[in-house]
Amino acid sequence: HDLSVNDYLRQHIRTVPDWPAPGVQFRDITPLLQNPKVFRVMIDAFVHRYMDGALRPSVVAGLDARGFILGAVVAYELNVGFVPIRKKGKLPFTTVEETYELEYGSATVELHADAVRAGDRVLLVDDLIATGGTMMAGKKLLEKLGAQVMEGAAIVDLPELGGSQRLRGAGLPLYTLVDFA
Ligand code: PRP
Ligand code: ADE
Repeated sequence: HDLSVNDYLRQHIRTVPDWPAPGVQFRDITPLLQNPKVFRVMIDAFVHRYMDGALRPSVVAGLDARGFILGAVVAYELNVGFVPIRKKGKLPFTTVEETYELEYGSATVELHADAVRAGDRVLLVDDLIATGGTMMAGKKLLEKLGAQVMEGAAIVDLPELGGSQRLRGAGLPLYTLVDFA
């Protein structure tokens, strides 16, 4: 972590207790988007990391729904394309899909079959990593199409939920800007 960016962004994340369920400390990133200076610091941190060199992607994939907000802006700034990984039932063309476990029940995400191809080097973006299930499903979808996922990027990591450790253990390097214990 860049400590100053970490502390600056942390101050602008709103914690909402007991939402959407009792016991959950919800880390709300909407204040980061609402403040144009903060929005720029956050996007610039990603753009700086991925613009040049070995980590520069050929495409950015964003995870439904908050990963779209960040991923699309990062892709635009890097001058590469953006592909959405959506919750099931939203994409109109042929898709690949992946089902994964949530804390309660399961979810399915989809990706258009022609969104990426072998040889693509993908940056996978979401707002937050909790159990890591969403990002793992995204990685699997991209790999089903033959692409290589270079790194996962998110604003927030919740390390106590073990998701980031699990993702790294599965061979996905991660770059996150703020940890919340
Ligand atoms: C949240 C968050 C991540 C995911 C992280 O999305 O935006 O995508 O949960 O949790 P995980 O690491 O345990 O998979 P949510 O499912 O609330 O959907 P939304 O973005 O549509 O609100
Ligand atoms: N997604 C899963 N857990 C979350 C949390 N605690 N805050 C925000 N988004 C989440």
